[in-house]
Amino acid sequence: MSEPVKKFSPIAIAMEKDKRYSWCTCGHSSSQPLCDGSHRAEKATPPLAYVATEEKTANFCTCKLTKNPPFCDGSHKG
Ligand code: FES
Repeated sequence: MSEPVKKFSPIAIAMEKDKRYSWCTCGHSSSQPLCDGSHRAEKATPPLAYVATEEKTANFCTCKLTKNPPFCDGSHKG
């Protein structure tokens, strides 16, 4: 198993209404903050699916410490 990719600042995504986003929960994806399938080889946690309810730009968590996944709640600062 390799170390998770570490990017602690949130990444903004311009979401499209009704589009499904697979947020990486394991930290191994090289396409942060979204899953690239790396969790399978790493035998790590699967992604969390989120379907956008509106068109808007949101900050997605990359530190994986958020209590409001998939969105940043500022936990990377603490
Ligand atoms: S690569 Fe992390 S959840 Fe898929």
